[in-house]
Amino acid sequence: MNTTKFEEYLNKFDEADWLKSLNELLPAIGEVDRTATQIWFRFFPLALHNYLQSTEDKEKAIQQFVMQGNYELKNQIDSSHRFLYGHRFWKEAKDAIEKYAESFTSENANLANEIKEIAKTAAQITKTDASLLIGITAIGLMTLRQVGFDAFKNAAGKIYIDKQHAKKSAKEVLAERAKDDSQGILGFLKTTDKKWTVVYDENTNEARFKLFDEEELASGSARDQSKNWKALDERCWEGVIPVECRSASCGTCWIGVLGGAEKLSDVARLERKQMKVFGYNQGDAPKPFIRLACQAKAHGAVSIVIPPWNGVFGKKIYGNVEKVELEPATTSAVKLREAITNAVGNK
Ligand code: FES
Repeated sequence: MNTTKFEEYLNKFDEADWLKSLNELLPAIGEVDRTATQIWFRFFPLALHNYLQSTEDKEKAIQQFVMQGNYELKNQIDSSHRFLYGHRFWKEAKDAIEKYAESFTSENANLANEIKEIAKTAAQITKTDASLLIGITAIGLMTLRQVGFDAFKNAAGKIYIDKQHAKKSAKEVLAERAKDDSQGILGFLKTTDKKWTVVYDENTNEARFKLFDEEELASGSARDQSKNWKALDERCWEGVIPVECRSASCGTCWIGVLGGAEKLSDVARLERKQMKVFGYNQGDAPKPFIRLACQAKAHGAVSIVIPPWNGVFGKKIYGNVEKVELEPATTSAVKLREAITNAVGNK
């Protein structure tokens, strides 16, 4: 397979370079997609992709990492970023990236600047502000980096949101995001019987469940029996959020928090430690945008994104895992617990 000049250029950057460029771009990314773009880059880590590409036995590595769900970006080139506002401009961003890649010559170009330039070209076509295209363009380039130019070009450029939602302005989406529920006229007197809405897909009106005040997100999700969740995703035993151990031991329930992160409980020591074991890039903030749904408790409405896969790869990929004490097993998560035990070297 021939590698294009543009692919060679992208191949020079590792995950840290990409995240550095993303940080540079953040002020220029429209508010509606600022967190969403960062979440996407954590959902599809380049370091894990590179490891799986270079290892001699990919299937074995996937088994060792207990990877479950749809982890291959090549199978979701058009859909992985459906939760971004900029997804509605995917076709134009994708076209602009392809044209740019085909005429690319400047090997020493600055990655963040190139992303901005491509976004500007796409914005002229969509007649929108370039700030709404930067996030989706950055994601497009990382997608190209991971799937290769041919696969990227061959993807249809399909949009996965309906007309009603596609019509919404960024301002409207932001105004609705994580908007707290009214608790009624005497709501100020309520304590534990307050209820909050968790939205897990901003592009679908029905994608929401209720949560009691200070309840873990995974518990609220488990009460929602409105669909056969298992038929939609085999990781979903109860509710829309995949869960297994409910004790921060397996890594199944990781989520991105699009809005309302400040209304979740602080990350406790166990969650912080385990996120490193799993390999999920949580960040150091007390209320980061990547969480474990079985640990994060809400005291207000939140908007979340559920990643299509989960795994345990922190030790092998990032090597920043110290020995950890695992909580007692509470469910059938034996396989996952074995993987974690092996990953951190506990006996
Ligand atoms: S369900 Fe296992 S970590 Fe949350």
